[in-house]
Amino acid sequence: MTISIRAIQDSDIERLAQIEAKSFSHPWSADSFRELLDIDYARYLVAICDGEVAGTAGMRVICGEGNIDNVVVDPDHRGKGLAKALVAELIKWGESEGVKDYTLEVRVSNAPAIHVYENAGFVSEGVRPGFYEDPKEDALIMWRRGN
Ligand SMILES: CC(C)(COP(=O)(O)OP(=O)(O)OC[C@H]1O[C@@H](n2cnc3c(N)ncnc32)[C@H](O)[C@@H]1OP(=O)(O)O)[C@@H](O)C(=O)NCCC(=O)NCCS
Repeated sequence: MTISIRAIQDSDIERLAQIEAKSFSHPWSADSFRELLDIDYARYLVAICDGEVAGTAGMRVICGEGNIDNVVVDPDHRGKGLAKALVAELIKWGESEGVKDYTLEVRVSNAPAIHVYENAGFVSEGVRPGFYEDPKEDALIMWRRGN
């Protein structure tokens, strides 16, 4: 198995929209991805597994803080370390941009995602009640703070 991470390209977008549709009740559309391509304060990555686009994750730098969002891996490729690699690469890019603090939200029931984020150094600092819809659920607010 070979895994690589690279910046998102226009040609990835239809495939990413399919992965989204399989993974979320409110998936990003192809147009949502297209809007990101030219934003200079954001970086969206894709994971390639054995030549196939298998996942994505992104970060926007807002007020000097890295906001990670849209971490998603195709169900057929989960458990292979792709999310771990995507998050590590986002933080590496953030550090190269001088970002010290990173944050994200995650459903309180999403044990695999929480596991990935805790392994990357994130800790829960609070709960946003009823943040998610379909189904309604609280969000954990997680932070990875630099020194
Ligand atoms: C969350 C998600 C991105 C993880 O992607 P992935 O590529 O499978 O993640 P990785 O393989 O890098 O790591 C998965 C880790 O979770 C662990 N894990 C799997 N199921 C778990 C569970 N039920 N409880 C706790 N940990 C679990 C694995 O053991 C692994 O940890 P390890 O590296 O210590 O062995 C993927 O499950 C996904 O796309 N889910 C749907 C979309 C989603 O919820 N995204 C997050 C939005 S905040």
